[in-house]
Amino acid sequence: MSHKTDITVHPREVIERILSMELVRVTERAAVSAARLRGHGDEKAADQAAVDAMRRELNRLPIDGRIVIGEGERDEAPMLFIGEKVGNGSGPKVDIAVDPLEGTTLCAKDMPGAIAVMAMAQAGSLLYAPDVYMDKIAIGPGYPQGIVDLDASPADNINALAKAKGVRPQDIAALIMDRPRHAQLIEEVRKTGASIRLITDGDVAGVIFTAMQHETNIDIYLGIGGAPEGVLAAAALRCVGGQMQGRLILDTPEKVERAKTMGIMDPHKKYEMNELASGDVIVSATGVTDGGLLSGVRFGHGVIETETLVYRSITGTVRKIKAEHRQFEKFNLD
Ligand code: FBP
Repeated sequence: MSHKTDITVHPREVIERILSMELVRVTERAAVSAARLRGHGDEKAADQAAVDAMRRELNRLPIDGRIVIGEGERDEAPMLFIGEKVGNGSGPKVDIAVDPLEGTTLCAKDMPGAIAVMAMAQAGSLLYAPDVYMDKIAIGPGYPQGIVDLDASPADNINALAKAKGVRPQDIAALIMDRPRHAQLIEEVRKTGASIRLITDGDVAGVIFTAMQHETNIDIYLGIGGAPEGVLAAAALRCVGGQMQGRLILDTPEKVERAKTMGIMDPHKKYEMNELASGDVIVSATGVTDGGLLSGVRFGHGVIETETLVYRSITGTVRKIKAEHRQFEKFNLD
């Protein structure tokens, strides 16, 4: 008697499943290319290497892709600029958000936390955002919806989170970027008794840390970072069910106009996580330097090792993929 298994998989799922692995290859190759220049003190060269590798790999994918979050706008970014078409054009129409090297300074100085990261979603589902700052707040999964809010005071947010977690405000840990613009925020959070981890760069990982509280001990992300990084972080957080809000900082008439050309009519709009990244999303991040999220690239004898996290919103699956690469020509290495 034969035991045939009847596997019924929706075609969209097949595409998603196959593409998840393809995205892993894309960020792996960007990470390896950047990591070759890790610790060399040249941010631009490391970023360029990651961009070149990511673009080359993206253009091999069976997708009809459009960069919605990229290296900047066409005139300032020769490659992977916002609006650029990527993929071989044969597959589904998708939006792509990329940060080929998130934490250029971290990579140039070989400090913890540099990653290569990208997200892919159904066309029209990622916020088409200009390269400006974004005010952000994020917490991990498992809390009632709306217990923290971008418009509430830091004290109210910390106290509400502590109550929901069943701990004292002193037991809450916040993550904030170490920037002069955050002086008041830091002071207000400290007054609640909460602890603060300050990071020098890399707030995509900073937001994702809230969803791994048992590993990172971070409960809440607060403050201003890049808008592109905000969209990427929201895409990853959506897959694991955390909460996030963001507001673009459009503080000059030029920025307001630029945003308008991208379809953003309300410059003060507070975006919910589902508006930053909606629909089916896949996010892939590979470590460049060692960090709290991922180990960095290891160049061994005849082998290169990478570590990647891949998130899928459709199932909420998070996979950590440790890979050993032996065909170096795939990375354009000798
Ligand atoms: P880069 O990789 O482009 O250097 O960005 C690093 C980063 O720290 C982001 O993680 C963060 O969102 C942004 O810069 C903050 O910008 P700024 O350094 O201007 O405060």
